[in-house]
Amino acid sequence: MQAIRPIRLGVNVDHVATVRNARGGALPDPVRAALLVQQAGADGITAHLREDRRHIRDLDMERLKAEISIPLNFEMAATDEMIAIARRIRPHACCLVPEKREERTTEGGLDAAGQGAELGPRIALLKEVGIRVSLFVAADAAQIQAARDLGADIVELHTGAWCEARAEARAAEAQAEFARIAAAAREAHGLGLEVHAGHGLDYESAVLAAAIPGVVELNIGHFLVGEAIFVGLEAAVRRMREAMDRGRALAARGVADGAAA
Ligand code: PXP
Repeated sequence: MQAIRPIRLGVNVDHVATVRNARGGALPDPVRAALLVQQAGADGITAHLREDRRHIRDLDMERLKAEISIPLNFEMAATDEMIAIARRIRPHACCLVPEKREERTTEGGLDAAGQGAELGPRIALLKEVGIRVSLFVAADAAQIQAARDLGADIVELHTGAWCEARAEARAAEAQAEFARIAAAAREAHGLGLEVHAGHGLDYESAVLAAAIPGVVELNIGHFLVGEAIFVGLEAAVRRMREAMDRGRALAARGVADGAAA
């Protein structure tokens, strides 16, 4: 059996900025949220600077880099503009995602297999200045192999379809999606990639995702910002950590694979 490593929690603060931008002022401040999240025991902060700046803005990214002491994961589309900003800000890591202007959130995984010619040089530009590169991909063997071939350090497996199937009580689909994610994690780990997962996770799905062998980080945003309304951000982050630790304990007992729905 694989050795079970502790699992990291990356918290995405985009939706603190969504609330701020709804009124156009400075509050609530996503950097204050990031500092609170850090104090509550998160291992990293994620923020997505979208082309349309609908939530996080350039100055937020700069302040996050300057003010937090845990790793900053800069989520972005692989455009020339974003590559230039990331090379200037120098986050710990960049997670490259597909981005469509009209989508509400990142809908699918990056087509690493089909867009290698465009992605390869951009990945190299990030790595050149010491930024770790993660590709947000579907749980698909071809995408994972392509990520490895393109020189990515990390793959983040898209858990959105699994979480949606769970939320809508489509049990068979949820089971199948979970099996795909677990197989992809195995595959990626076997190729020497660091394996992260995220999108749509809540306390219950995080227990299960944390139990997948090979997964070393979960990135979670929308649910935690929503929970913060009811219990406060610190409490939500602490509870999420506990959920993930419970999942890790399950993994240590080797019971992850059957626990999907
Ligand atoms: N990981 C990636 C690559 C994402 O695009 C997102 C959404 O911004 C997340 C994780 C977090 O997803 P959620 O907000 O649904 O927890």
